[in-house]
Amino acid sequence: MKNILISGASRGIGWALLQKYLKEGCRVFALSRNTLNFSPLKEQFPNAFDYSSCNVAIQSDVEIAIQNATNFLNNIDLAILNAGISGSESFENFSSDKYKDIFNTNLFGVLHFFEYLIPLMKKNNGGTIAVTSSLADVRGFAGSAAYSSSKAALTRTLEAARAELHRHNIKVVTIRPGFVRTDMTAKNRFPMPFMIEPDQAAEIIFNALETGKSRINFPLPTYLITNLLQIMPDALFDFVMKFYKVSIDE
Ligand SMILES: NC(=O)c1ccc[n+]([C@@H]2O[C@H](COP(=O)([O-])OP(=O)(O)OC[C@H]3O[C@@H](n4cnc5c(N)ncnc54)[C@H](OP(=O)(O)O)[C@@H]3O)[C@@H](O)[C@H]2O)c1
Repeated sequence: MKNILISGASRGIGWALLQKYLKEGCRVFALSRNTLNFSPLKEQFPNAFDYSSCNVAIQSDVEIAIQNATNFLNNIDLAILNAGISGSESFENFSSDKYKDIFNTNLFGVLHFFEYLIPLMKKNNGGTIAVTSSLADVRGFAGSAAYSSSKAALTRTLEAARAELHRHNIKVVTIRPGFVRTDMTAKNRFPMPFMIEPDQAAEIIFNALETGKSRINFPLPTYLITNLLQIMPDALFDFVMKFYKVSIDE
């Protein structure tokens, strides 16, 4: 039986992952700022499930959360660091505050966990750290510079960490979803092709982690399109971006 920590578990992809791992008989410790959704689950799975409130952007919150998680799980075999936020901003009327918020959650909200998980997993002779980045990491998208660049920084960080931590038997997994129907995408005001449901995303992530994949890119059509965007000549990408702007309700 595996012991699993999931951040950003109160809604969306994290919530679907939480249900999936409990159904598979694992022990799960869940984190998010709002914990209202967790209490009925605690009644249903008193021995297999526990949770605590944690803002991943605050390092002291993460330190306490790791302490609570290890008290409950004893050993963390798999940590799925999934908490994230999106947002749109404009360079025409720019403020760096939103950038800081997004980076503090999407990038530093993962790095805070690294400080505690890496020594813990080294002591336990290994473990897996799986982190939700995004297929949006491939380029800087107009209207969503902070989100796409936070995920690009995250994906690069995970790649480097994977190479270094391998020798300690710590596996680093990069999860790169395309569009998934959650509260996050409900605010988007632009076309979202090949959108999938959170349950489908959880199934894909679960199966890929079981088979030991280190990069989980899905769904396939979005993965192929974003690969094309990545290798698209810069001049053509700049031209396309003149007609495209991400718009998100706040
Ligand atoms: N949906 C998509 O299409 C899509 C595509 C690519 C990547 N992703 C990534 O997938 C992950 C999950 O996204 P989702 O679509 O499931 O979003 P969601 O439905 O908005 O859920 C986000 C989760 O993260 C938690 N969270 C946000 N900020 C947090 C913070 N500062 N501290 C702790 N928890 C925090 C939220 O809980 P609280 O608000 O209660 O804290 C919630 O549980 C994110 O990293 C996102 O960037 C999503």
